[in-house]
Amino acid sequence: MSETKIALVTGANKGLGLETAKQLAALGYEVLLGTRQPAPASLAPASLGPRLSFVRIDMHDPATFHAAAARIGEKYGRLDVLVNNAGIGPDVAFKPSESPLKLIRETFETNVFATVEITQVMLPLLRKSAAGRIVNVSSVLGSLTLNADPQAQLGEWRSFGYNGSRAALNMFTATLAYELRDTPIKVNSAHPGWVKTDLGGAGAPLEVGEGAQTSVRLATLPADGPTGGFFHANDALPW
Ligand SMILES: NC(=O)c1ccc[n+]([C@@H]2O[C@H](COP(=O)([O-])OP(=O)(O)OC[C@H]3O[C@@H](n4cnc5c(N)ncnc54)[C@H](OP(=O)(O)O)[C@@H]3O)[C@@H](O)[C@H]2O)c1
Repeated sequence: MSETKIALVTGANKGLGLETAKQLAALGYEVLLGTRQPAPASLAPASLGPRLSFVRIDMHDPATFHAAAARIGEKYGRLDVLVNNAGIGPDVAFKPSESPLKLIRETFETNVFATVEITQVMLPLLRKSAAGRIVNVSSVLGSLTLNADPQAQLGEWRSFGYNGSRAALNMFTATLAYELRDTPIKVNSAHPGWVKTDLGGAGAPLEVGEGAQTSVRLATLPADGPTGGFFHANDALPW
């Protein structure tokens, strides 16, 4: 029997993160749901099933990254999948010229700096996996190519903080994938689509079940799968 794979998903108390965790568990992965709050009663471990458990991950508190890494190291000795899903978009409704610096800083702190830091902390455990996978949950709104095209179908979603944070995260994907090119670890960026969540809003066309599929695909890539790419479903997106 093959060894059970271990996955950590950040921002997994709701939305795309929770759904990604559930889909990975359904594929047989043992999944740690990173949440900054204690698990809500609606997510009692018993209701989630045997392969899902909680670990405290607060993107504003790097001590939680180290504590989680120590726990994963002690219990499993390695990490097979890291899904960097936690993210915020507090400035999406602002024009770049009017977006409060405070919101831009908050966005980069969570979506970029904390995501880079947790990845650095988890990397030694991912190096111990036979097939490590890092999924950076980004957005098509981070595409420089599309943002530079006035005709691109981005609507009015052209804020600097959120879009810029996704472009920066994509650069982390590309540079880290290059650094790790001679290892089994694959690093890719995912665009879930526009999905009904607290962040995506009720008007989004996709349900979380479909939205989580890109992260799940990239988390479960075979040895001959891509690295250093930016994808929605099976399609490569423009950087
Ligand atoms: N929905 C879409 O249409 C869409 C499109 C493209 C990309 N995305 C990306 O997909 C990812 C998931 O978003 P979602 O749509 O599922 O939104 P969501 O329902 O608002 O979920 C965001 C998750 O991130 C967590 N989070 C935020 N700040 C955190 C912090 N400081 N520490 C720990 N966790 C934190 C939230 O936890 P709390 O509940 O504790 O705040 C929540 O679990 C995000 O990175 C987002 O940018 C979404």
